[in-house]
Amino acid sequence: MAKGGMGFRKGIVFAFIAVIAAMLGCLFVLLSLVTVGAQDTGPGKTTGSTGIIVGFSQIGAESAWRKHNTLSVHEAAREKGIRLLYENAEQKRENQIKAIRSFIAYRVDVIAFAPLVADGWDNVLREAKEAGIPVLAVDRKLETSDESLYAGFIGTDSLEEGRNAARFIIKKFSSGAPYKRYRTEPIKIVEIAGTAGSSPALGRAEGFREGLAGHDNFEIIYSEDGDFLRSRGYEIANRILDEFPVIDVIYSHNDSMTLGLIDSMKEKGIRPGKDIVIVTIDAEQAAIDALRNGEVNCVIECNPKLGPAIIDLAIQLAEGKEIPRLLHVEEQVFTEDDPDLDSIPPRGY
Ligand code: AHR
Repeated sequence: MAKGGMGFRKGIVFAFIAVIAAMLGCLFVLLSLVTVGAQDTGPGKTTGSTGIIVGFSQIGAESAWRKHNTLSVHEAAREKGIRLLYENAEQKRENQIKAIRSFIAYRVDVIAFAPLVADGWDNVLREAKEAGIPVLAVDRKLETSDESLYAGFIGTDSLEEGRNAARFIIKKFSSGAPYKRYRTEPIKIVEIAGTAGSSPALGRAEGFREGLAGHDNFEIIYSEDGDFLRSRGYEIANRILDEFPVIDVIYSHNDSMTLGLIDSMKEKGIRPGKDIVIVTIDAEQAAIDALRNGEVNCVIECNPKLGPAIIDLAIQLAEGKEIPRLLHVEEQVFTEDDPDLDSIPPRGY
């Protein structure tokens, strides 16, 4: 009986220790989540050792491209010891204006800002200027009545992306077969454009038309704004593929919309990349995979890995230095004619 009593007491002690250990374990997991959360890619603050604070107003999370771009800025800030205040505007201009105002109130050192659309920012930019906070436009360009309202721009060259799209289709159809109609009637092109009024949509449309100028054998028969969203690409394709008896080329302003339109084509028994030539922009992994398996004919890179350059420029601005007014990042073109598509390194987005 006495032995049994000891065993019982030991059992209780062990159970007690086990419960405490389990509780400590849970506490540890919770604490690590909180720590990771504070430095993670989601909304909030990234801590920093330099004492420099950058407010970053991002457009949203509409594409894999955008998510990677956000990640790139967070990683670079962390590496350089910059404290990042991050706001996701969820595709709304008014949210970006609010975010910039909150950065001004917080008295950040620099504001990095990817403008949803090109114009309509003068007032809030003036407020930042009056507060002595330099603004760096990133990814998308700005149109202002006064150039001094922002310090500079770093991002994509969307005009050149549009020109590259035109160059590819001119080359492809100039080679003749199997598109014999080229000899007698124009090649019919549909354009699925990005967010109306955004600088990439404006530039990609303008550069494309500029590239086709003087080539009467191409006709843009239809253009619609797909807001850079996969769901819109699908919706638009569903309608136009029934509406137009002949479409030779679809030029899509981003991969998300392209993936949506490929879904719709397959549902209708149309072979993407074969029955209709597809030219797309961004170079997400999914688009490169589609190029490899012949469902896309040309992929034009739009480089989202802007983080390191944005943070370097922000540091220069925080130190009171001048930065270049305009910096375009390096971008490539991948086509079905490339001899070794398998050697393209993983894209990361
Ligand atoms: O501004 C860059 C564009 O925005 C990318 O092409 C697109 O995928 C993103 O949403």
